[in-house]
Amino acid sequence: MKVNVNFERLKKNFLFEKVSSKVSDFAKRNPSKKIYNMGIGDVTKPLAKTIIKGLNDAVLEMSEEETFKGYGPYRGYSFLINNIIKEFKEEGISLEESEIFISDGAKSDCANILNLFEKNQKVLIPNPVYPAYEDTNIIYGNQIVYANATHENNFLAMPDENQDVDLIYICSPNNPTGATYNKDQLKIWVDYAISKDAVIIFDSVYKNFIEDSTLPKSIYEIEDAKKCAIEIYSFSKSAGFTGTRCGYTIIPKELVRNGSCLKDLWFRRQTASFNGVAYIIQKGAEAIFTRQGQEQIKENLNYYKENAKIICNTLNEMNVFYTGGKNSPYIWFKCFNSLGSWELFDLMLEKLQIVGTPGEGFGENGKNFFRLTAFGKKEDTLKAMELIKNFF
Ligand code: MLT
Repeated sequence: MKVNVNFERLKKNFLFEKVSSKVSDFAKRNPSKKIYNMGIGDVTKPLAKTIIKGLNDAVLEMSEEETFKGYGPYRGYSFLINNIIKEFKEEGISLEESEIFISDGAKSDCANILNLFEKNQKVLIPNPVYPAYEDTNIIYGNQIVYANATHENNFLAMPDENQDVDLIYICSPNNPTGATYNKDQLKIWVDYAISKDAVIIFDSVYKNFIEDSTLPKSIYEIEDAKKCAIEIYSFSKSAGFTGTRCGYTIIPKELVRNGSCLKDLWFRRQTASFNGVAYIIQKGAEAIFTRQGQEQIKENLNYYKENAKIICNTLNEMNVFYTGGKNSPYIWFKCFNSLGSWELFDLMLEKLQIVGTPGEGFGENGKNFFRLTAFGKKEDTLKAMELIKNFF
């Protein structure tokens, strides 16, 4: 027996666990102080009424012999997959049922997808980026190289032709920077991946925040992307499923490597390791696609977008450089008073009781940047921004 030594290469704590333990420690010391949590990107609006009805009806179905469901189909129920196909079709992208796999959200699949590839792959990860990509690749024993996203390139890293890689992670709109690739930039990534025979893992969980209609919501809007990209999405941020857990992964039939169709390998992997997302949850997700469901989730999305505007307006008034906020629920700004990001975190927690996420937690290039989320309550966002403006 040998323990996976790669765990020794990880930072001691996962970023959001470290943030939350610092916050609980503060709360213990200051039980009467109100904390404005703009740290982890967790939604605060309850599930839409139509989704609740979908969930409730499914619960009742489980109580009757005629409608009870045991194990579901490995790739997910057709009623949900067909809605996803329809949504993509409206955007001009054609997909087949066998290319879509219902998941319990983006995080697990971003990690599990590595099962498709041999170990010791060379993986290109933007810096800064969502820390789960890096951690899961470290655990897997892959070699990581970074694509630098910096103030100079507006936090939109581009590929280096001289760098050979096997796997490429792209998150657009990006977590944490909110920066969003345009079609020309994504085309460069697709061409690069094809030239290196690499596979892109495209995380589109924030696509519903895109307001600029010229920006791509799916990598499959880009020519040839089906030959090189897997797309991973979750209903967490768009429909409030952070605690309910449902999403999907798309592997196009054109994605073939070493004579293997990756979607078939993934299906084989799922049959061996995953018994699917609960019927009740998939019925809740199905309700997202109804007319009322779409209207109700839009209302919540608009609420968060309004918060993002409040944050951006304050930073504009303070003349602080930032990215995101417009097509993203994240606002990524240069630390006030040239502080380091953990220093700013501690100062804001202690003096203002505002929790954000230190940029350094997303990578070295974030060490002088800080992330706030727009997922809070409007009154709290307004108050927090007033406190920031007065203090800094
Ligand atoms: C974040 O705050 O970066 C996200 O909520 C983390 C996640 O989606 O797991």
